[in-house]
Amino acid sequence: MTAAQMTARRAGPLRGVVRAPGDKSISHRALIFGALAKGVTEVEGLLEGEDVKRSAAAMAAFGATVERVGEGRWRVEGHGRFSEPADIIDCGNAGTGARLIMGAAAGFDLRATFTGDSSLRGRPMNRVLNPLGEMGATWLCREGGRLPLTLKGGGLKHISYTVPVPSAQVKSAVLLAGLHAEGGVEVIELEATRDHTERMLRAFGAEVLVTEDGPRRRIVLPGGQALSGAHVRVPGDPSSAAFPLVAALITPGSEVTVQGMLLNELRIGLLDTLGEMGADLSVTNVREEGGETVADVTARYSALTGVEVPPERAPSMIDEYPILAVAAAFADGPTVMRGIGEMRVKESDRIALMAAGLSACGVGVEEGADSLTVVGAVRANHGVAGGARVTTHGDHRIAMSHLILGLASDHAVAVDEPGMIATSFPGFLDLMRGLGAEVEA
Ligand code: S3P
Repeated sequence: MTAAQMTARRAGPLRGVVRAPGDKSISHRALIFGALAKGVTEVEGLLEGEDVKRSAAAMAAFGATVERVGEGRWRVEGHGRFSEPADIIDCGNAGTGARLIMGAAAGFDLRATFTGDSSLRGRPMNRVLNPLGEMGATWLCREGGRLPLTLKGGGLKHISYTVPVPSAQVKSAVLLAGLHAEGGVEVIELEATRDHTERMLRAFGAEVLVTEDGPRRRIVLPGGQALSGAHVRVPGDPSSAAFPLVAALITPGSEVTVQGMLLNELRIGLLDTLGEMGADLSVTNVREEGGETVADVTARYSALTGVEVPPERAPSMIDEYPILAVAAAFADGPTVMRGIGEMRVKESDRIALMAAGLSACGVGVEEGADSLTVVGAVRANHGVAGGARVTTHGDHRIAMSHLILGLASDHAVAVDEPGMIATSFPGFLDLMRGLGAEVEA
């Protein structure tokens, strides 16, 4: 039985050295690429969270052989093509899984029906359906481009697509479809987003041409290319590492090191922002692993100051604003986050839920259409009260963010639906307890 709530309360300092779980974005991609490729792909350090397990099951349904061969070690044997699945593909809570797999499946002459949990069924799919439709895919779906939907792929043609919102999921869906489009595909993004798909295309043997003009990127995937199986070593997820690191920054006397964290420059906007807030962070043992830069990151308790986060930084920390808002609650002065409208279409409306949760915990917040301002407790001249039971709408990052808040607030903080944490960070409770946190399930 899963617990109905989880509660975090203030205890002693947090201390220790931990490893972040495997990166969620790279884990989904490793399985999808493995299934699209010809031959065997071996994956090490795969995130064994609920979202990624859904992608593993989906790849098996499309005809790949997918096996777990050890802890975090998976073997995928692909045949260079997807076959028509016999049943509905249920992507659970995973927007990344759903959108990337739809892109990959669109390249083949098959019909596939996709669904997900109530959160995923409420999220916009038009952003991927529009370009896939321009390429020649067709579909039948609920009003407003929502799941469940049935996609019919095959016979795709080349397009040059400018992604209208900064979204690595949309970019990736178009590139994956482009692998089987006559003449390939060109994708233009006006703001650079995480580039794991481009990197993995190369690692699986495809040619991808990327030209940069300031933040704008033009990505050309020439047609007629086949992928061959590869070895993927998944680095630690910076979006998960953010929770123990911020916990250390706001809990007096703490020092926490997260080993093997991905330092891809398109993923580390949070570290830059925390640095500007005065966080005592050190990055050591920087190394290259599996085509990505990784390092060990240490955070020590710090006196933080509120900052204005540059809006152009949003794509490089889009999943980290909830935990940044928690750090901001303990800072001196306001922290202003603008240009974050995309947060409203994540697993939940994260601007609304962070504003509601923080204000229930006594933190001053101001919510705008695409902004959030958090008034730090130091300037307000009192601590963070806490003492609330926060509604998470089943959003893992809303749950973890408020539990971290509870570790440093005056009264305990509880969250509902804690089982959803397992979508991205199944070991969260054990890892935090191992550092000395008092969290009750
Ligand atoms: C992801 C891209 C981001 C991010 C998500 C993972 C990816 O979504 O929020 O958690 O793996 O490509 P968007 O592309 O919608 O910004």
